[in-house]
Amino acid sequence: MLTFCSRSVVGMAKKCAFGRPRHLVKPVSATRVAGRYLTHQKGLPSLPVPPLQQTCERYITALEPIVEAEELSLTRRLVQDFQEAGGVGERLQRGLEKRASRTENWLSQWWVQVAYLEYRLPVVVHSSPGLVLPRMDFRDKDGQIRFASKLIAGALDFKTMIDNETLPVEYLGGKPLCMNQYYEVLSSCRIPGLKRDSVVNHAKSPRPPRHITVVHNFQFFQLDVYQRDGTPLTVDQLCVQLEKICRASQETNSEPVGILTTQHRDVWGKAYVNLIKDKTNKDSVSAIQRSIFTLCLDGVTSEAAGELYRSSAAVQMLHGGGSRGYSGNRWFDKTLQFIVGEDGTCGVNYEHAPAEGPPIVALIDHVVEFTRKPEAPGAPAGSLPVPQRLPFNVTAEIKQDIEEAKLSMNRLAQDLDMRVTVFGHFGKNVPKAHKMSPDAFIQIALQLAYYRKYRRCCATYESASLRMFRLGRTDTIRSASNASAAFVKAFDDPSKQNQEKLDLMEKAVKAHRSYTNMAVGGQAIDRHLLGLKLQAAEEKLPVPAIFKDPSYSKALHYHLSTSQVPSKTDCVMCFGPVVPDGYGVCYNPMEDHINFAVSSFNSCRETDAGSLAAAVEDALLDMRRLLEQTPRSKL
Ligand code: COA
Repeated sequence: MLTFCSRSVVGMAKKCAFGRPRHLVKPVSATRVAGRYLTHQKGLPSLPVPPLQQTCERYITALEPIVEAEELSLTRRLVQDFQEAGGVGERLQRGLEKRASRTENWLSQWWVQVAYLEYRLPVVVHSSPGLVLPRMDFRDKDGQIRFASKLIAGALDFKTMIDNETLPVEYLGGKPLCMNQYYEVLSSCRIPGLKRDSVVNHAKSPRPPRHITVVHNFQFFQLDVYQRDGTPLTVDQLCVQLEKICRASQETNSEPVGILTTQHRDVWGKAYVNLIKDKTNKDSVSAIQRSIFTLCLDGVTSEAAGELYRSSAAVQMLHGGGSRGYSGNRWFDKTLQFIVGEDGTCGVNYEHAPAEGPPIVALIDHVVEFTRKPEAPGAPAGSLPVPQRLPFNVTAEIKQDIEEAKLSMNRLAQDLDMRVTVFGHFGKNVPKAHKMSPDAFIQIALQLAYYRKYRRCCATYESASLRMFRLGRTDTIRSASNASAAFVKAFDDPSKQNQEKLDLMEKAVKAHRSYTNMAVGGQAIDRHLLGLKLQAAEEKLPVPAIFKDPSYSKALHYHLSTSQVPSKTDCVMCFGPVVPDGYGVCYNPMEDHINFAVSSFNSCRETDAGSLAAAVEDALLDMRRLLEQTPRSKL
């Protein structure tokens, strides 16, 4: 989750909310369906450029609940000038439309650059989400290795569907979705640069990788996961190989080279140049970058239970706990890292540039289901080559870079407050029974919780998928609306009757759902405004005044950066706040409960993850009470 995008786990749910392969259930097909992916992609519509006037009007409306009256009147004048006939707005709009006519998606390349690759804060906490799975039932090294082997086998099973182009197409609201992100998450890696980063994807290279990277006690290994004939190693074979790796890396005093990837991107960009000057280091880094994914084998990470355990597991997935924890047992540039602790802790960290959460979660759902399948009696492990260690020569200069990375990682780890809670009173079932969108209901509860704490509404970001369009990524659902503001202001007002409050709640929920429809249909305002701004830069025009306006900065200062990431598995994704005085809120609404991950920074005195999480719980309960105790009028 970023500045622009801004940005309990219990049993298993029976179905899922967002585009899981419900209709196309065939788990794996061994038969290749060549060309299926491209045919599907070609059939998708292109991302539209919304009409200029529509965006200008909607922008003003979106500002109303979050800026002061004087600020708004200035913005109205600026927007008026911007969109006048023959003005700069029209010129930029024409430029955007031209771009849309000659590219597959007018936004996606810009978006990856601006939101990710040119974003210079560390990917750790600030951009890469973590995902916490339910605690697994092993508690020792053998159990860890066995589980990790199944997990690798499950991921390779999913990869077969990608390689064979048999991945079930996902749908949202009956419309097929772009599947491109699935082809970007394996065998890819972010590469640090001095001013901007890049991403490489080796999946489509003439010799696609056949290995994963395993990291244990800060030491990296290349593990070949396919036999010569192209069949994946069995779980038993993987177990044998992981045991060899763990035996070869028992000592714990290796330099944690991986911690360099937690640095500010400019700093890491410089350190990277220095690191790969050495041929051995360059080869090791290249093996990591080319690998299908990374498996991080951690030790015992937490003695806690319940909510404390879940929160500490989230931290484990998000940043690894600092230099005295496992932050060095990672390569954070790697698109996909599975993390398995010796104590049953399990999850993922993923680098955001190539994909959003839903494809990652679909992969995880598949892997978790795979690990739960009874094991077929395996073929004998046989003799396999010893996994190759990826050595690093650590010079004095590299050592210095590592020490600096440790310090800044520890500062970041200490600053992050993360709270994972299970709201166990209800899930999607209650809003659905009242004919309301569960997502909208939760978002309005978040608005109420925030208002109760701060007595103001704030710019709120919720990710909306643009995957109905070819190469679509996300746009912003602005959850703070005039309707939500009217509701939250009325809710605790003793002069208001319940009937009026309920009407306001229904209007707020409907307004949110209608913004959602507009956003997933490519008609939201944020990416369009960004596109107009970038178009001005492209045409070497001065930055238009509407983008230098304080209202625009306020609109992009997301005190609440939120995202729904639903899954079949009872997990939760987590990410950091996108502004120093804000919150990151990710949630997974299951049928009868909701998993929340709320984050804030300790350095900000006004924010407190635990207290917002508690306020959200109260808001949800109070909203249900209002629903159940008040007869509904016809709106
Ligand atoms: N009455 C009864 N049921 C309703 C309803 C109503 N008025 N409105 C919705 N529902 C049902 C839906 O049919 C759906 O049912 P299901 O559980 O059987 O599938 C369920 O409630 C969920 O719908 P809703 O809560 O409205 O959300 P959604 O699934 O449409 O998702 C978004 C909304 C915004 C999350 C989704 O459109 C999206 O864009 N997701 C991607 C977000 C993303 O990319 N996040 C990752 C960022 S890293």
